[in-house]
Amino acid sequence: MTDDAPAYAGPRRILSGIQASGALHLGNYLGALKRFVALQDAAPTFVFVADLHAITVWQDPAVLTAQTREIAAAYIASGLDPARSTIFPQSAVSAHSELAWILNCVARLGWLDRMTQFKEKSGKHKERASVGLYTYPVLQAADILLYKATEVPVGEDQKQHLELTRDIAAKFNTDFGVPCFFPLPEPVIQGPATRVMSLRDGSAKMSKSDPSDQSRINLTDDADAIAAKIRKAKTDPEPLPETADGLADRPEARNLVAIYAALSDQTREQVIAQFGGQGFGAFKPALADLAVSALAPVTAEMRRLMDDPAEIDRVLKDGAERAAAIADPVVDEVKKIVGFWRG
Ligand code: TYM
Repeated sequence: MTDDAPAYAGPRRILSGIQASGALHLGNYLGALKRFVALQDAAPTFVFVADLHAITVWQDPAVLTAQTREIAAAYIASGLDPARSTIFPQSAVSAHSELAWILNCVARLGWLDRMTQFKEKSGKHKERASVGLYTYPVLQAADILLYKATEVPVGEDQKQHLELTRDIAAKFNTDFGVPCFFPLPEPVIQGPATRVMSLRDGSAKMSKSDPSDQSRINLTDDADAIAAKIRKAKTDPEPLPETADGLADRPEARNLVAIYAALSDQTREQVIAQFGGQGFGAFKPALADLAVSALAPVTAEMRRLMDDPAEIDRVLKDGAERAAAIADPVVDEVKKIVGFWRG
């Protein structure tokens, strides 16, 4: 956008989602869930379970339903208040799919060809990946633009998808001569743990698809499992440095310090001020204690909620109605702008 382009004048809205595929881990908690909670009072907040995105790779139907509830439970257990934040399953608001199709016709193949997550997820056999996996970032753009969201809290791995969303919004606004229709949403990639790394390999992202369960802390792990995983986490032989700059070439140490900082709501510098010069023999038990005390209440509340699926379903149903009340008029306007017949 040029400086003299008219600015979007709509209200602030915060939106994000988590895929319903596989167990949630500490990366999701620190990079996303905890950030949503920190923002929910700043503006109306919409958080959904991305089940449409999940089926871009095969999901067992019964497991998908259970995982949808589990992610909703994690939202609530992390501190999102269903009365203030709108929590819903993506597929329950059909406007997501409708807008995604229209935006599929706005996005360019060349833009999607650059998406690194598709390359990572499709692996060596691109021709065997679902078409949905390829157009996945366009559905993500639809999720965001449907609510005219202005801020999208995510981990660092979603940055490219947010840039694509901005490109799609700008092209739609230009192509149809509606310069301020969609906002250009800002990614909010903040905090000390926007990219939590594997506990086994400081150069790989902590991920639900890593075959080693030792690489990640799951939100369903109990205290013993959390402590054991941290005890066995890969490190180097040096003590922690005296300054945060000293972490630059030490990916495993940097990761554990970032996790400590995010869990204790401190900066990396504050953590280094406390632990600089100490070995991992002292730091790891402190980190394990902190992780257990921070995650135990979340895990316990998730378990309680999962034992009461009816309560989760009430939240999701109410959320879907509130989400549709915002989304449906937007998709109606889009249809009018595009020129679809409207009787
Ligand atoms: P997903 O389900 O892979 O991840 C959910 C959120 O967790 C963050 N995250 C991490 N943050 C820090 N360190 C990590 N190791 C780590 N791993 C994951 C992700 O950045 C994300 O914020 N496409 C999205 C879901 C989505 C979405 C959206 C997000 C669908 N539509 C609209 C925002 C807006 C995804 O697959 O995230």
